[in-house]
Amino acid sequence: MTDRPKILVTQKVPDPAYPLLEAIGDVEANLVEGTIWPYEELLQRGPGHDYIYCLLTDNIDAGFVEACATATPRLKMVANMAVGYNNIDVAAATRLGIAVSNTPGVLSDTTADLAFGLLMATARRIPEAERFLRASKYKGWGPLLFCGAEVHHSTLGLIGAGRIGKIVAKRASGFEMKVLYYDVYRMSPEEEAQYNVTYMPMDDVLRESDFISVHTPYMPSTHHLMSEREFALMKPTAILINTARGPIVDEKALVKALQAKKIAGAGLDVLENEPAVEPELLAMENVVLLPHIASASLKTRTLMATMASDNIVAHYHGRRPPNIVNPEVL
Ligand code: DGY
Repeated sequence: MTDRPKILVTQKVPDPAYPLLEAIGDVEANLVEGTIWPYEELLQRGPGHDYIYCLLTDNIDAGFVEACATATPRLKMVANMAVGYNNIDVAAATRLGIAVSNTPGVLSDTTADLAFGLLMATARRIPEAERFLRASKYKGWGPLLFCGAEVHHSTLGLIGAGRIGKIVAKRASGFEMKVLYYDVYRMSPEEEAQYNVTYMPMDDVLRESDFISVHTPYMPSTHHLMSEREFALMKPTAILINTARGPIVDEKALVKALQAKKIAGAGLDVLENEPAVEPELLAMENVVLLPHIASASLKTRTLMATMASDNIVAHYHGRRPPNIVNPEVL
């Protein structure tokens, strides 16, 4: 490509992302922190750019990529500043020869930290206890005050044990937890030994674990992977943790399972219809809710932001973007 490419950055991202893009092209950016263009605005602004730098809250669907593929200049690549790319219709992009990239790896440790923090917070009722104290209800130490679930030496069940799940297993070893896992890809015996994890069919993981932590990507096969049947298999004392994607958990079934005491609690960093929250979950003290912050350390978000820029820069220079998810378009 000889002309300076036109690059659209859909949301305000950490600063180091911009100079990398400005060095190669003309950047149009939404610089208003915390704002997300509605789909109609995205559809109006996107066509006529060579590169779209987007976030997981941008709906890059078939209609959008088709509009960008028929405009001048034609869209060449969508760089998502996230490891998950379920917001992008990759099949449509691939059909139109448009590259798609993501940001794997750099957020795995940070996300695993938060998953473990959420597990601790939910098990030991930390947010609930803090709300109690701030409301001036604390009148002194009590033998039964905020007794929660034991974390150390308990059993953790990972549903999905890819990059992030494996690191959660490492965190769990410090708490001397037994770690079971289910994944469509079974690890080699060497890897299972390295992470000290035991493979089981998903139903057995659900039956035997004190904590279930979800770490699968979101795709048609994982939609509502955790629903009524799965909650019924879990221990009544078990706690569900989700830092992956909201719609992997059937939130209405989760509400019912919590109300019927089929499971004991849930820690959710992601929601089925983000940013909307099921009102029943908001009212439950045994549910810890976070606004999708698992990768939110400044260092990690900066790494993700520069990684997304690097993918665009590589494509511009005719190199293979390091994190391309549909290499068949190259
Ligand atoms: C991702 O990258 O997919 C996370 O959900 C946000 O960091």
